[in-house]
Amino acid sequence: MMKLNREVFDEIKKQCLEELKTAHTLEKINEVRTKYLGKKGKLKKLISDISILQIEERRSIGEIYNRVIGELEEEIQKKIQSVKLEKIESYQFNKLELTLPAVKFSVGKKHPLQQVYDEIKEIFVSLGFDIEEGPEIEFEDYNFTMLNIPFDHPARDMQDTLYLSLPETDKGRLLLRTHTSPVQIRVMLNKKPPIKAIMPGRVYRHESIDVSHLFNFHQVEGLMVDKNVSLPHLKGVLIYFVKSMFGEDIEFRFRQSYFPFTEPSLEMDIQCLVCRGKGCNLCKNSGFLEVLGCGMVHPQVLQNVGIDYEEYSGFAFGLGIERIAMLKFRIDDIRLFYENDIRFITQF
Ligand code: DAH
Repeated sequence: MMKLNREVFDEIKKQCLEELKTAHTLEKINEVRTKYLGKKGKLKKLISDISILQIEERRSIGEIYNRVIGELEEEIQKKIQSVKLEKIESYQFNKLELTLPAVKFSVGKKHPLQQVYDEIKEIFVSLGFDIEEGPEIEFEDYNFTMLNIPFDHPARDMQDTLYLSLPETDKGRLLLRTHTSPVQIRVMLNKKPPIKAIMPGRVYRHESIDVSHLFNFHQVEGLMVDKNVSLPHLKGVLIYFVKSMFGEDIEFRFRQSYFPFTEPSLEMDIQCLVCRGKGCNLCKNSGFLEVLGCGMVHPQVLQNVGIDYEEYSGFAFGLGIERIAMLKFRIDDIRLFYENDIRFITQF
């Protein structure tokens, strides 16, 4: 049996530290640890020798034994940490490829519908129009009755309008508004003339989806009510609008039409942007494309909101944002706006 003293432990410690120096991987460090501190390791093996020593000696050798084990354990932990750190650093360094071109940073793109709406807003704001909004859940009275749309009008039918399964109110059933025209009613109920506002928003129709129909799309309503507002004012504003939107030399025309809430009612067309009036598939050989509906506010509508139609008159118009965007960017399928395919969006 080996004589146990301080030198024996110092020697074992020295050997262990020496081997630790050349251990550069976690596996190697573990091997060293097992060799010295493991159950059958060089130090643990000495326990049986210590246990048979006299009490005094057992105490002092035991102390040395515990101290050396503690010190070696600490050194091994330090070494493990430094190897781990080196591993991370070298990994990061290897990954840093200075000759690679920089990663392209994409800042996104304004959706074409948002672009067109921003442009519409700018045009009308520059003419002094305010912006007003109304709710998407609307009363039947505001969406239809007060706009002079008769009870037997097909638009009121369940086939065309999405009604909510909620109790009827004193202003009729609740529905998802089918157009932005009810915001006209809300504005006129809340404000006295002069009124000059555009009213953007989402509208809903019970419609099957195809290249030109969605059950949910966007409109911008326009309204001006004051003393002596007449048809030439309406035409002047709308001509300014289409020229700003489609270019100074765009050809246009007004056609007689019918809306229950305007009298007279008109529709505005622009010359077909594809064939320039010659006739093609897009304009169905008419040479023109429909842009919006408009007219002079029906006296009955003014009366419904308590505005004296002898003193005041007004004009109104309504346009579809998707429709304007399709014309402007020559998009032939309305569904593309809602697919959010970045390859589509970034073209405009
Ligand atoms: N509300 C109509 C629609 O959804 C559009 C419209 C036409 C609005 C004429 C108007 C207007 O204000 O004067 O089809």
